[in-house]
Amino acid sequence: MGEWYQMQPWWTRAVIYHIYPRSFMDASGDGIGDLAGIRQRLDYLQWLGVDTIWLSPIYPSPMADYGYDVADYTAVDPQFGTLAEFDALVWDTHARHMKLLLDFVPNHTSDRHPWFIESQSSRDNPKREWYIWRDAGRDGGPPNNWLSNFGGSAWEWHEPTGQYYYHAFLKEQPDLNWRAPGVEAAMFDVLRFWLARGVDGFRVDVLWHLMKDEQFRDNPPNPEYRSGMSPYRALVAAFSADRPEIHDLITRMRRVLAEYGDRLMLGEIYLPIDRLVAYYGPQGPAPHVPFNFQLIQLPWTATAIGAAIDAYEQALPPGAPAAWVLGNHDKSRVARRLGAGQARVAAMLLLTLPGTPTIYNGDELGLVGLMPPDGASLDPKGRNLPGFSRDAERTPMQWDGSPHAGFTAGQPWLPVQPDFARVNVAVERDDPSSMLSLHRRLLELRRTDAALAHGAYLRGDRTDRVVSFVREHGHERRLIALNFTDRPERVGLESGVHGQVLLSTRMDRHDEVSGELLLRPDEGAILAIGERRRMPRVALR
Ligand code: GLC
Repeated sequence: MGEWYQMQPWWTRAVIYHIYPRSFMDASGDGIGDLAGIRQRLDYLQWLGVDTIWLSPIYPSPMADYGYDVADYTAVDPQFGTLAEFDALVWDTHARHMKLLLDFVPNHTSDRHPWFIESQSSRDNPKREWYIWRDAGRDGGPPNNWLSNFGGSAWEWHEPTGQYYYHAFLKEQPDLNWRAPGVEAAMFDVLRFWLARGVDGFRVDVLWHLMKDEQFRDNPPNPEYRSGMSPYRALVAAFSADRPEIHDLITRMRRVLAEYGDRLMLGEIYLPIDRLVAYYGPQGPAPHVPFNFQLIQLPWTATAIGAAIDAYEQALPPGAPAAWVLGNHDKSRVARRLGAGQARVAAMLLLTLPGTPTIYNGDELGLVGLMPPDGASLDPKGRNLPGFSRDAERTPMQWDGSPHAGFTAGQPWLPVQPDFARVNVAVERDDPSSMLSLHRRLLELRRTDAALAHGAYLRGDRTDRVVSFVREHGHERRLIALNFTDRPERVGLESGVHGQVLLSTRMDRHDEVSGELLLRPDEGAILAIGERRRMPRVALR
């Protein structure tokens, strides 16, 4: 590998595996996943071939939003374990040459956090300004029209002190006021607490929300709003999020990480590409990475996805790693959205594009999750907004065919899928063409094949049915061709170009092709390509 490549920070070569701790592995038997459970499954993650783990929040929390309502930033919730167990997890992860990222939730705390308890105690408490308190609007109603992501106004009236406080999510999640100097200092110390314990960085929750308009102007209506969308989207969050001041704050946050060396900050940012890439920051080659959620949000057509990849590749600052994602604990699972066949195509796309991809736990098995019956959502978003429950993507990992899929010896907090006897790690590990085996092979190729590991991205031929692109490193060229349809498709190769299939999403072919490649329905393939006489030999499996 070239010297330039060696000099890049570790995360430009990383594949991130996102663990939702509540649902990953329960070692204690209380039906809720925990740190000891994650430690038991590190062997699995190493076998799978991922190298960086991100944990959704593990801090003490009343769990109104399942841990995204933090009541103490520098401890571990007893449901998940202890700080000593956390230290052991860091140790075990590093012993496997893997990295560990925590979820940093800086936008809001729990309403039970001692800071908020003080803040709400009186108007002249020193912590009053740590949250966003405003007088009622002229009509006695909320100070402005801002909406909560979880339904209704984002303002909650607080009778004892006669003011409203702002909450972008639940009323149990009051937003911190990052313009108050004490907040920044206290939260930066939280980062230092975990960095000193050895974490390799953070995924930062709703990073683009941290700064709000100083004048609290009303958000404008969204002309693209259609019925069926979440009511939150009726307005464009022009003044409640993505304010210009956020970038200086992020620069200061990055400096805190830099005090500890090569640590990563992954930003959760749902914004259009032109505004998203600004979050790579001004300091030359991207020090840190904002997620790109387009593969979740766009219609799954060759036209939409192909155009989005090209536009993003062009918009990325020089040296900035791409950061594609197919799923997370907030969005419908990829296999549910696209079906089993296209979920394989999507996995091949995710793991052959350049950059730092993130896999959501369970997607490597093809889990679809289980929708809660009407009225039975545990997720508060689903309780407030029927049809928007996130329970389905949070059902437990399926490890084997034993009761509750080997996730727990107790009663799982959410049920496992009824097909768990067939869809689980133990069964899929032994099936050479399973979704799990496909992921493992894709990850292996990504690690070992120089063109896939760090080759340049070249746009390939496009139709409204097939996306293709090339990864190129020196003389090594890989063609990735993905059939987005359930019909056979032909992909033309340039004249004189010869191809050898390295991997198909069906995992059943290594044929050589000239002239054209025939893709079966829902098939994607990775080919080594070149002139016939100069084709380098590649090891096939
Ligand atoms: C992020 C989290 C989501 C949470 C919200 C509020 O979007 O991913 O789970 O509900 O922030 O913290």
